[in-house]
Order: sequence, then structure tokens, then C-alpha cells
Amino acid sequence: MMPSSHPIREAFRAPLRYALGPSQIVEHSDGLLAVDETGRIAACDDYETLFPRLPKDCVIHDFRNFWIIPGFVDCHTHLPQLDCRNKNGLTLLDWLAKYIYPAETQFADPHVARNIAPRFYDELLSHGITTAAIYSTVHFEATDIAFQVAKEKGLRAIIGQVLMDQNAPQSLLKSHLQLMNETEKLIAKWHGLEKRLFYAVTPRFALTCSRALLDDAGKLAHEAKCYFQTHLAETQQEVTQAKEIHSFKNYADFYEARHALTSRSLFAHGIYLEDSELKILSDHHAAIAHCPTSNVFLKSGTMPLAKIEQHGIRCGLGSDIGAGPTFSMRQIADCACEVHPQTIMDQSKAFYMATLGGAEALSMSNQIGNFAEGKWADFCLFDNSDSAGKAKKVFVSGQCIFKAS
Ligand code: GUN
Ligand code: FE
Repeated sequence: MMPSSHPIREAFRAPLRYALGPSQIVEHSDGLLAVDETGRIAACDDYETLFPRLPKDCVIHDFRNFWIIPGFVDCHTHLPQLDCRNKNGLTLLDWLAKYIYPAETQFADPHVARNIAPRFYDELLSHGITTAAIYSTVHFEATDIAFQVAKEKGLRAIIGQVLMDQNAPQSLLKSHLQLMNETEKLIAKWHGLEKRLFYAVTPRFALTCSRALLDDAGKLAHEAKCYFQTHLAETQQEVTQAKEIHSFKNYADFYEARHALTSRSLFAHGIYLEDSELKILSDHHAAIAHCPTSNVFLKSGTMPLAKIEQHGIRCGLGSDIGAGPTFSMRQIADCACEVHPQTIMDQSKAFYMATLGGAEALSMSNQIGNFAEGKWADFCLFDNSDSAGKAKKVFVSGQCIFKAS
């Protein structure tokens, strides 16, 4: 008998691979992943060891032509930027002004949101991403649609309506009271739904948010026990302007004073932070989303991964679509290996960061990230010879939610 208290429905036979830590990768060349009827992992072991212990009526799916790995976790991406990739030649602030803000303005029209959201999720899923932390736009309805479509597609997602009340085109600005009001409604409707959908209070970054807005955002995330996500110290120019606008000494103190540093706070980039700031982030158990392909594309700089690790800060990988050009976690992992020295980054660690490390950064590692018994059976099938990093099939909570055509 298996230790799981729920009957085992199905098991998946294939070579299996998952991470237990940055340099601890487990492989079963002929493995078996058993899933109970609630969609959680009942057991994972060598086929030979596990098969005799399964109930006689358990359905075995034979996927021995593929590898089964945990679903990837994308810790930072932008739904409205799906069609804004590869806009070359500018650095962050000019790129936002020229390409991104005009594209996001289109989301005032719900038809645009309805067109792009399903295509965006299909891209995530076709690359084996089963969990993602996503920015919508400043639009309430478009954000509601982003949740609705995520629900229909069946993936795990943390989503937030972007908050901006200054320093952006007028068409993308709202009063902080309206933004908070809309955010509260979305939290009430979506946060925690089906244990798969979660809300992130999402101030875009310090330049486009007043102190009053950030104060309310920090407070609301805390009170509603939801996530808080924003961009932090992505370029030197951004840091300089943020200091001028908000008259702060450093970013970490500033967000600490907004009560925005918790274990559910997720900061994208974190390239230009001083040691004292990393200590503050670490003291509050805040996490960082590392977006190497985006940092290369916008020439933002190289994230100081060694220092971030020395401070014990949880750190996952993000595609950062559309500054990042690719949804492929395989390509993002390869990029991480290219930009960081061999001594601190290798393929094992990159695989860990794309799965369990990402789950840790999102405070979900007791639920997802590897094939430990009791976690959700979120996994994907890959053909190892496919360098594009496309998944053949994708499962969330044991249900197949995507098949390559
Ligand atoms: N900083 C503020 N907004 C954005 C965005 O949309 N993308 C990236 N990469 N950085 C940002
Ligand atoms: Fe981003």
C-alpha cells in the first residue's frame, strides 16, 4: 500500500528529473510518477521499485520516449507585452516610453485583452511553464480577463493589475484611490481561487508610483495576505531618478517603510542594490526574480547573483516578456549560464532555479517545484533533442492542460 491517503488514479512512466536543491538533481532513467485522485504526487521512484506497490487498477501512461520534469516556474513576466518582443536599440526608460506604454494603452479595449490573453498562456504552457507571476496593465477589465482566461486554461498564476499614478502617459494613469479600489475588488474575486490563482499587488516601479500609492499598495498586500510585486533597481538611471523623485537614501529602506517587504514580496531584477539593501531584503525574506535574457536584451547589466546568494535571498528565473525575447526556460537557463561565472552558475543550478528555486521564490515550494510526495502533480513532457524547449504535454494537478499540436 502507498502512504498516500487518497486512491492512486494514474502513474506516468518515463525518465524523470527534478531538483532537491541548487546542486542536487535526482534522475530516474526509468521512473514512475504516481498521482493520487486529488492531483497530488503519491510517489516518485524507479519503475521497478514503485510499480509492484501500485493498485492493480492504476492506469500506467507510457512516456518512455520523453523526459518528465516539474513544470517550470516563471517568476516574472508581462502578459500585455506578448507582441512587443525584439524591439531593439533602446534602454529601459526609452524602451518603455516608445514601445511598451503604447502597447499597454491598447488594453483599455477588452477585445485586445481577450485576444492576447489566451495566446500568452498558450506560449507559457507550450514551453512547459505551469506557474507564472504575471503583470497585467493598469486596466481593471483587462486584468479580470487575464484571471478569467488563466482559470479556463488551468495553469497556476499570480496576477496583478499594474499600478501607476505618475510619470507615464496620461492614458495609463489613474488616481491612487481608484487603483486601490479596483485592486481590492480583484483580490476579493480572485485571490486564492481554486488554490491556483493568486493576486499580486503590482506597482509597476517607483518612478510611476506616488508615495501615497506605494503606501497603500504595501498595506493592502499585507492586510489581504497576497503577493506584492514590482521592478527594482533594474538600471542605474532608474535608481538615480527614483532617488530624485522620492528623496530616499536607498530603495530597500524606502520599501521597508512602505511595509512592502514580506516573504510574499517579489522584486524583479535587483541589479543595482548595495550590500546593506540586500541585507534588508534578506531580513524580511523578500525574493528576487532574476531575468537574464531581459537584462541582456535591454543591456541593463548583470545581476550580482553571488552577492544575492550570500545574503540567502530566494531567487527564481523570469522570462520578463517582452524585454525578454523568449518563453523558453531552457534558453533562459542557458543565458544565466552564459552571463554568470561557472563558479556560481551551471546547468544544475539553472534547472533548480527554473523549478524548485522559482517555487521557493514564490513561497510555493511546499506545493510545487519538484516530485516530493504530497505536492501538486505539475509536470511536463519534453523531447530532449528539442533545443527550442517546447513541451509535448503539460499537466497541472495531474490534469493534462496542454498538448503540442
Ligand atoms: N520597469 C518598469 N516597467 C517595466 C517593464 O514593463 N519591463 C521591464 N523589464 N522593466 C520595467
Ligand atoms: Fe518586467
